[in-house]
Amino acid sequence: MEVSIRRGQESDMPVLRDILNYYILKTVVTFEMVELSLENRMTWFTQFSETGRYQLFVAEENRQVIGYAASLRFHQRPAYAPSVMTSIYLHPDHTGKGVGEKVYTELIENLKAADDVHRAYGLVVLPNLGSEKLHEKLGFQAVGLLNEGGYKFGEYHDVRMYEHRLDK
Ligand SMILES: CC(C)(COP(=O)(O)OP(=O)(O)OC[C@H]1O[C@@H](n2cnc3c(N)ncnc32)[C@H](O)[C@@H]1OP(=O)(O)O)[C@@H](O)C(=O)NCCC(=O)NCCS
Repeated sequence: MEVSIRRGQESDMPVLRDILNYYILKTVVTFEMVELSLENRMTWFTQFSETGRYQLFVAEENRQVIGYAASLRFHQRPAYAPSVMTSIYLHPDHTGKGVGEKVYTELIENLKAADDVHRAYGLVVLPNLGSEKLHEKLGFQAVGLLNEGGYKFGEYHDVRMYEHRLDK
């Protein structure tokens, strides 16, 4: 089945909430700990635009949204503003089939074209072979390790920081 990529829209929020809630409750790939509400995702959606720092793309198969890639605020201190943090989550039935590469590439290409974005950072909780491979394949470089940087489900977890220079 053909996968297409488009901009995310408000009506996608219930599906994106469900995808992320699966990973929040069952895995350590995200350090979110508490299930997200639809209201939370509606507020989250308001940050996105088509040309700015914060952009959202979704992958669709058969008119069903099966995942997303987004750029988000990296840090609240203002000098970090030209750096964004990336986020990518696919429905668990749709991993390992090239969808992540497709939707993440679209995001990165749009960030390269955005005037006010200088760096993109991906934080990957280890191990996550699919995510590690995807970041490396798309031109991110590993720039640091947060040793036991997070604590979830009763254990500490290492986090690798990946940087994409966006050809800038
Ligand atoms: C991480 C994720 C976005 C990757 O997307 P994907 O569609 O599964 O990955 P792709 O099929 O595009 O594969 C990209 C590359 O990674 C490799 N890869 C994918 N899954 C892999 C795995 N489990 N183990 C080893 N390599 C893997 C692929 O072989 C491919 O490399 P290749 O082209 O050289 O063969 C997706 O698996 C996902 O949403 N996982 C759960 C949520 C998550 O971990 N999000 C990221 C948090 S940092």
